[in-house]
Amino acid sequence: LINQTCIITGASSGIGAAVAKAIAAEGANVVINYNSNKENAEEIADSIAKDYRSVGVMIKQADVSNEDDVKSLYNTARSEFGPIDICISNSGIQRDAEIHEMSLKQWKKVIDVNLTGQFLCAREALKEFLANGVRKNISASAGKIIHMSSVHEVVPWSGHANYAAAKSGVAKLMQSICQGYAGKKIRCNSIAPGATKTPINKDVWGDKEKHEDLLKLIPCNRMAEPEDIASVASWLASDESEYINGTTIFVDGGMTCYPGFIANG
Ligand code: BGC
Repeated sequence: LINQTCIITGASSGIGAAVAKAIAAEGANVVINYNSNKENAEEIADSIAKDYRSVGVMIKQADVSNEDDVKSLYNTARSEFGPIDICISNSGIQRDAEIHEMSLKQWKKVIDVNLTGQFLCAREALKEFLANGVRKNISASAGKIIHMSSVHEVVPWSGHANYAAAKSGVAKLMQSICQGYAGKKIRCNSIAPGATKTPINKDVWGDKEKHEDLLKLIPCNRMAEPEDIASVASWLASDESEYINGTTIFVDGGMTCYPGFIANG
C-alpha cells in the first residue's frame, strides 16, 4: 500500500485502531478519524508514527453521520496527503433495547451512524476515486471502499434490531456500489466480524458468565481479537484481492454456521 492514503473512520479504539495500524504497516498514509475520543486517537497516531516512520499519519475529528463533517474529513485528508485511495468505513455504535421498548431516538441514532454514516463516507470516496482514476504504479484500482459490517447483516438480533437493520442495509449499499462502479475500477466490499473483543461489547466479555454463553455461539470457541479483522482489511485494500468486488467476507470463527443447531433442529 506504499504511496497510498487511507481514511479509517472510528479509528480511536477497537477494530478501527487495529485496522489503522495494519494499513500503516503495509506502507499507506493513514487518517485516523475519531468522533469524541481525541486522546485515544492521538495515542494510536503516536504509536503508528513511532513504529512506521515512512508513513504519514494524522487525526481528524468528524461525526460520520454529519454531512459537513464527512466532507471536511476528506478535504483535510486530501490537503495533507494528496489523492485518497482507500476508505474504511468502520465507525459503529450500539443503542440496545427490545424492539417494543426501543425509542425512536435509539433507532435513529444507530441508523444515522451505522448506515447513513457509511453512505456519506462512500459518497465522498466515490467522488474522489472517479476524479482520480487508476493511479499508475500505485494500485490496479481507482479506489477501494471497505465497509465494516457485522455477522448481523445476516443474523437477526432481536434485542438490537436497529443495529441488525443498519448492517443489513450496509450490505445492499455495498453491493449497489460494486454494481454501479466496478466498471470504473472501483472496488467495494464488506467485512463482517463476529464477536470481537472491543469496547462495544465489553459488558459481555468482561462478565464471566456472559462470556461463556457467548462462546457457545462461536464454533472456534474464542472471540476475535481486533487484529483478526485488521489483517483481512489490509489484504482487502491491496491488489492481492483485486478480483474481489461486491462481497462480504465473514470473519467470525464460524458464528454464521449457527452452532446452536449441532444437536438440535
Ligand atoms: C456486535 C457485537 C457482538 C457481535 C456478535 C457485533 O457486530 O457489535 O456486540 O458481540 O456482533 O453478536
